[in-house]
Amino acid sequence: MTSLSLTGGTPTSVKADALVVGVAIGAKGLVLVPPADAVVKALGKGFAGAITGLGATGKAEEVTLVANLGGTGPGVVVVVGLGKELAKGAVYDGETLRRATGAALRALRGNRKVAVALPTSSPDAVRAIGEGAVLGGYTFTAYRSTSAADHKPPVENVVIVVSDPKDKATKAALTRADVVARAVMLTRDLVNTPPSHLHPAELAEIARTEGSKAGLSVEVLDEKALRKGGYGGILGVGQGSDAPPRLVHLTYKGGRGAKTKVALVGKGITFDSGGLSLKPATAMEEMKMDMGGAAAVIATMRAVAELGLKVDVEAWIPMAENMPSGAAIRPSDVLSMRSGLRVEVTNTDAEGRLILADAIARAAEDKPDVILDIATLTGAQLVALGARTTGVMANDDDLRTSVVDAATRAGEPSWAMPLPPELRKGLDSEIADLVNSGPREGGMLTAGIFLKEFVPEGIRWAHLDIAGPAYNSADDYGYTPHGGTGAGVRTFVQFLEDAQ
Ligand code: BES
Ligand code: MN
Ligand code: ZN
Repeated sequence: MTSLSLTGGTPTSVKADALVVGVAIGAKGLVLVPPADAVVKALGKGFAGAITGLGATGKAEEVTLVANLGGTGPGVVVVVGLGKELAKGAVYDGETLRRATGAALRALRGNRKVAVALPTSSPDAVRAIGEGAVLGGYTFTAYRSTSAADHKPPVENVVIVVSDPKDKATKAALTRADVVARAVMLTRDLVNTPPSHLHPAELAEIARTEGSKAGLSVEVLDEKALRKGGYGGILGVGQGSDAPPRLVHLTYKGGRGAKTKVALVGKGITFDSGGLSLKPATAMEEMKMDMGGAAAVIATMRAVAELGLKVDVEAWIPMAENMPSGAAIRPSDVLSMRSGLRVEVTNTDAEGRLILADAIARAAEDKPDVILDIATLTGAQLVALGARTTGVMANDDDLRTSVVDAATRAGEPSWAMPLPPELRKGLDSEIADLVNSGPREGGMLTAGIFLKEFVPEGIRWAHLDIAGPAYNSADDYGYTPHGGTGAGVRTFVQFLEDAQ
């Protein structure tokens, strides 16, 4: 894993294998973005011409590797694009820096030490660069037995060049980057882990270990405790699998300064076959990622504890494997939920909302100020917003706005979505209180409306659908690899920092 440090020297004086500098698209061609202009002095006047000759344009995330044969400083200079040149006095936003650094460190895997000399006008910029550096190096090799020859390891140490490495806020930003990036990587690891190695009980054990190491109190409800507690949704979804379900409860106390209590709920389906409403083969291929919400909540809890945030946080994380078998729930079965409502299961593939409903109802019993749930909930999210943008729904406009705002500042694309009341009738059941699966149109919103039925009056609640964002089915980009992305962690940490 990549470690981060700060230095105050000139970029070319850092003893490193490679040096990362930024370029932009200027009105008259390529522009070296400070402190890259200082680098040219050490490398010689031919440098600017060389990078143009090598095809650098300054386009965002474009990476050009240059050998530094004659000049002083590292033997490799990595020129990364930052997009259009900024107006005088303007500063690069965090996400541009995060992505540029991520792209550079992805290209530099296999090196030991890398210096980064990108514009660091504020602690926020340092934080973004630090996150991008660690996350860009991420690889998942736990199940490879071949040598690492074609799977280069992350860079061991990244040194960020800043004006004052002793500045308190800058040092705090670096620590925060490290904590948050490691939480994102924990989430990625869990999402990438095959379902053969991550049944509900195993995921619960990881939550227990990570939680207790971080000083959280941990409670794991097994199937017996779930029966006693009347968790019909979690038990119903889990009953088709040989691997029994769990409900994990993690508690973080923010101390005397804490004035807000937030509950986090994350969908933990360790594999979603669809159940008896079986998915087609291609739709099942990536369904190990259906615990991305649970993983994000576990990792957020660890980060919150490591950062010592002044807010109380309770996590309720339902875990089950959705499988077809002689014991599985059938379409038309009725489940008695924790809240007392009864649900007619019209489609066993709409399982996420069933386990979330129980966890949300349980979270609400402790009367938190806010409930946030996060889930790889609907294919309709992908249809509506694409693979990278999280859909945010809520029973409170201000809360929804603050979640989207936190996400945006954290660099996680998110968009406000409505919960139109007229969609509720699509969930009417002929024999029970509601069905679990409504019409296709507005499927993401209907899922949100289903969950809302389990939030008691007076509790503010927001729902994040990360079906697309949790897993990158396409090629690597910026600091995001193929596979698990860690979506939601940075949004949650930002939201909880704001709630202090
Ligand atoms: N886990 C899926 C949603 C999903 C789809 C996540 C694609 C990531 C990528 C969820 O449990 C599901 O199957 N939802 C159904 C709901 C429907 C039956 C109402 C869906 O979206 O098709
Ligand atoms: Mn499903
Ligand atoms: Zn699912």
